[in-house]
Amino acid sequence: MDGNRCEIEKVLVSEEEIDSITTRIAAEIDRDYAGEDCQLVLLCILKGSIVFMGDLMKKVTVPLEIDCMKVSSYGAGTQTTGNVNIHLDLLRPDIDKCDILIIEDIIDSGVTLSYLKKYLIGKGAKSVRTCTLLDKPSRRKVEFTPDYCGTEIPDEFVVGYGLDYDEKYRALPYVGVLHPSVYSKE
Ligand code: PRP
Repeated sequence: MDGNRCEIEKVLVSEEEIDSITTRIAAEIDRDYAGEDCQLVLLCILKGSIVFMGDLMKKVTVPLEIDCMKVSSYGAGTQTTGNVNIHLDLLRPDIDKCDILIIEDIIDSGVTLSYLKKYLIGKGAKSVRTCTLLDKPSRRKVEFTPDYCGTEIPDEFVVGYGLDYDEKYRALPYVGVLHPSVYSKE
């Protein structure tokens, strides 16, 4: 890769915007999970959600636990919601007491979250809601609306703040549009 080329075409969601998004969503979570009988579990979907999860959980003030799953969707181009591989499952004996909030970096086709929500309800979770930093509604293959959403974005190739291209760019502190020259030459 040419080190002189600007690989990020533009910043789409700045550090300041992300900071106000996490503050707003944390306040919404505090409001919605304030009950004494709540056992809130923030469920990070690896790897892309790591950065968002880390920032968000620091701003939530109601008691919470964290957990992780790793999944991959291999049927995003189809109309089904079953084509998801689970690489790291959620294994806890108290799932029937857990109010699970799935934390995602991005919703694209909707296949992953649609599947995961049904999967966790099927495992007996007390409640399952979903939260995403970014939403690309124009890319939906299955109908899906998250309970908490940072911001809707256009159909552009975004990286940073956890999101990668070929495992790179995840550590950028903002969400940027990748310059097409980076992926068009491969
Ligand atoms: C991304 C993202 C979601 C999924 C969304 O994960 O983190 O899990 O794709 O796409 P969908 O709405 O079309 O199902 P990815 O497979 O890129 O893995 P990563 O988070 O490890 O980079």
